[in-house]
Amino acid sequence: MNYQAIIFDLDGVIVHTDRYHYLGWKALADRLGLPFDETVNNRLRGVSRLESLEIILENSELKNLSPDEKTALATEKNETYKTLLQAMTPADLAGEVLSALRTLRERGYKLAIGSSSRNAKLILEKIGLAGFFDAVSDGNNIVNSKPDPEVFLKAAEFLGVSPAACAVVEDAGAGIEAAHRAGMKAAAIGDAVRHGSGDWNLGTFADLLGIFR
Ligand code: BG6
Ligand code: MG
Repeated sequence: MNYQAIIFDLDGVIVHTDRYHYLGWKALADRLGLPFDETVNNRLRGVSRLESLEIILENSELKNLSPDEKTALATEKNETYKTLLQAMTPADLAGEVLSALRTLRERGYKLAIGSSSRNAKLILEKIGLAGFFDAVSDGNNIVNSKPDPEVFLKAAEFLGVSPAACAVVEDAGAGIEAAHRAGMKAAAIGDAVRHGSGDWNLGTFADLLGIFR
């Protein structure tokens, strides 16, 4: 297949903001006296903010809170998360990632972001990648988050490339599923490798250079 574009998930692929999502949810869960660990956190990868909250509340009576009360809890997590984001600088972008992105661009690939996050543009600014990508499809332009394919189909549309000519890079099982439902192949990195559903498994980000020649 001659791929024309590569669509990257952001949190946990381009940058380790997945760690900050963990800390944000952990602070909220601790305050509410709810269990929260890496296993639960892995289920939140790629999932929207409110759907993530539903997963955290699923075994608690708090799941019966009103929509407004749930929104307040999700906002509380997002405030903790945004405080952590404020401290980010371009030094948080690994040199290996920046250098591989530049090489892929030199090889002629269009590069896009496909993220469920509503904070994607803020993160890209903080790490010095504002304006770098040819398209950014994020939580602000979708109705359904991963595993729904919408965010990746929108990215392809923004790029003007057919879905079959796009490949996705993902750290979420839900993201690999979303890519496949969009008719795209997907490279798994990090936690997504454990799911075993990726078309390629990356040990490290720069492994992409061996796949997309
Ligand atoms: C995804 C993360 O990128 O964005 C999820 O993997 C997160 O964990 C989702 O819930 C929504 O992010 P935000 O920043 O809009 O709360
Ligand atoms: Mg991710």
